Amino acid sequence: MQLKVQKADDNINVFIWEKLRSHDTAHTLHISDIHFDSLKCDRELLKKHLDEIKRCDGVVFIYGDWFDVMGCYNDPRSKSHDIDPRYIKKGREYLNLVVEDSIEFLKPYAKNIAFISEGNHETEIKRRRDVDILSWMIHALNDNGGSIIKGHYSGWNEFVFRTSADLKKHKNGKSKSILSHYHHGYGGNAKRSKGMLDAQIASFTYPDCDIIFRGHTHQKFHDPSNIKFMYSKQTKKVRKKNTHYIMTGSYKDGTGHGKSGWEVQKGFLPTRLGGWFIDFTFTNQKTCKVEMTIREAT
Ligand SMILES: [Fe+2]
Ligand SMILES: [Fe+2]
Repeated sequence: MQLKVQKADDNINVFIWEKLRSHDTAHTLHISDIHFDSLKCDRELLKKHLDEIKRCDGVVFIYGDWFDVMGCYNDPRSKSHDIDPRYIKKGREYLNLVVEDSIEFLKPYAKNIAFISEGNHETEIKRRRDVDILSWMIHALNDNGGSIIKGHYSGWNEFVFRTSADLKKHKNGKSKSILSHYHHGYGGNAKRSKGMLDAQIASFTYPDCDIIFRGHTHQKFHDPSNIKFMYSKQTKKVRKKNTHYIMTGSYKDGTGHGKSGWEVQKGFLPTRLGGWFIDFTFTNQKTCKVEMTIREAT
């Protein structure tokens, strides 16, 4: 099994698993809103999930807010006690320390990370400080064995599963494609609906997508309920198409034990931490069938 990546357009990437045989499984982890440098980031849980994916030679996709970075001088969003003391060092720059720490943490996983896209915490630093810290980190990881694609705030990732069988008839082998759309996310905490109303809108806005990933609100759920009728003009047949809507969750425990802080003051509800594993199992070489198992990373 080999993974190849093609950039089809500025925000369209194609990830191709090649030379698959029956019952091969491509393991993937989909996460967002890590807020790595926040005091409230659960690094232990993050490490557990990254180690799990590394053990099975899987691939990680990160959909924004890897960084928190609200501790720059004069940033109105934080006070000094909100900043992790490891990033306050005499003679050193706060942003450099955060990025260097992130690089060190992710280095052992550089080969397993396929994709990291921007969240509002990265775009905000670009706007306020004129520094693209995400590119900085990705370049360093790619210098350490990675081949990570940097994604925009929103875009498409196509996952292609290709068998080496049938090379005579099909130049590159037969393949099955699963299309996903990601967007870091927008809007507030939506205490009652938890953003569930967006699932149907997104599924119909991106009708050809099999999976839709959304982050930002730190909510975590999987809604497989949006199904569309698809009519083929060629075959005159109808089939049903299912879209899996996945809210990717977060590794930042914002509310803690409900004592204090921004999330507590705003009355946010506690959320489940972690992201989602997706296993793509190539069940049949002849028919190119891929079975998808979505399981919660907890
Ligand atoms: Fe976030
Ligand atoms: Fe965000």
